Amino acid sequence: MQQVKAVIARTEGAPVEIVTITVPDPGPGEAVVKVQACGVCHTDLHYREGGINDEFPFLLGHEASGVVEAVGPGVTEVAPGDFVILNWRAVCGQCRACRRGEPWYCFATHNATQKMTLEDGTELTPALGIGAFAEKTLVAAGQCTKVDPSARPAAVGLLGCGVMAGIGAAVNTGGVTRGKSVAVIGCGGVGVAAVAGSALAGADPIIAVDIDAKKLATATRLGATHTVDSSATDPVAAIQELTGGFGADVVIEAVGRPETWKQAFYARDLAGTVVLVGVPTPQMRVPDLPLIDVFGRGGALKSSWYGDCLPSRDFPVLVDLYQRGKLDLDAFVSEEIALTDIEAAFERMRHGEVLRSVVIL
Ligand code: APR
Ligand code: ZN
Ligand code: ZN
Repeated sequence: MQQVKAVIARTEGAPVEIVTITVPDPGPGEAVVKVQACGVCHTDLHYREGGINDEFPFLLGHEASGVVEAVGPGVTEVAPGDFVILNWRAVCGQCRACRRGEPWYCFATHNATQKMTLEDGTELTPALGIGAFAEKTLVAAGQCTKVDPSARPAAVGLLGCGVMAGIGAAVNTGGVTRGKSVAVIGCGGVGVAAVAGSALAGADPIIAVDIDAKKLATATRLGATHTVDSSATDPVAAIQELTGGFGADVVIEAVGRPETWKQAFYARDLAGTVVLVGVPTPQMRVPDLPLIDVFGRGGALKSSWYGDCLPSRDFPVLVDLYQRGKLDLDAFVSEEIALTDIEAAFERMRHGEVLRSVVIL
């Protein structure tokens, strides 16, 4: 075992703390990873605020890249020295989704078996089974996806959560392909990634909707062909107008609110697809809609969990596209910060000032 610095949320709502934690040596099927970069995601803040569950203390951080330091017995897929992106979908191969050939829905994903602890032995709950606001972390070996080691850690680490969620919402869940019309409502890190994924897939037009002009400018940089400021313009009418009066083939909701989901519902063409990738709170309700509209408009109302990604399939390809200049992951890195700056980064995230703050270790 070894002791490293890490950031935890000790009790509900309390500011995060930097502490020393104990990381066990990897057991069977486990790996210890020396973390190089880890993005600050909304989910970390939700953990700290008690919005996920009450298994405090949490070891925060989960969109990360790093180098494998050691592996336990029986690990063959990665070896010490490998540059990896950490994922929270280490598929089991045994559950009913895996068995029917849809492992991206795996219902029994793997995490490390052993626990990381505080110095007094208190067990930590790692955020999304990762816990990467730490110099080193213990994960299941399947949570390590090997990618091109010459890629910038801060940029490609973001594929570990939010950016993959957005790209996958478009390409995996929404089935966005060449020539389809797409609208993305909410252009934070996730929504802008959905724009970038749609651009990679050859969609046209790609309509970005937000209430913040800065976010719309970034969306344009990442491939939006049109922008709609929905604080000033009705987004449903604007999307219809930009799609020949019909609505978009795929509308991606990346805010996580009933009113924006309702906009997505009505901004969609007949037989089109709505993808909910924004995360609602438990209190939110499906908007009141005439059931005849659900029936009569056809198509699909879907939600996208981690972009329905399969890390082993999707991460290496996206890293290669980044390396070849086709996917601008650098645009998502608003700032590089230290482990000591996470509270301030939460504050900037709350005010919508950043796409992603990335902790460099
Ligand atoms: N209409 C359009 N856009 C909106 C609206 C609205 N009514 N309200 C907020 N937005 C925009 C914000 O301006 C911001 O650009 O939605 C975007 C949300 O982005 P972020 O706060 O940066 O969140 P992001 O990291 O992109 O995640 C989006 O998915 O992971 C979840 O909890 C996360 O629910 C959130 C969503
Ligand atoms: Zn499974
Ligand atoms: Zn996340």
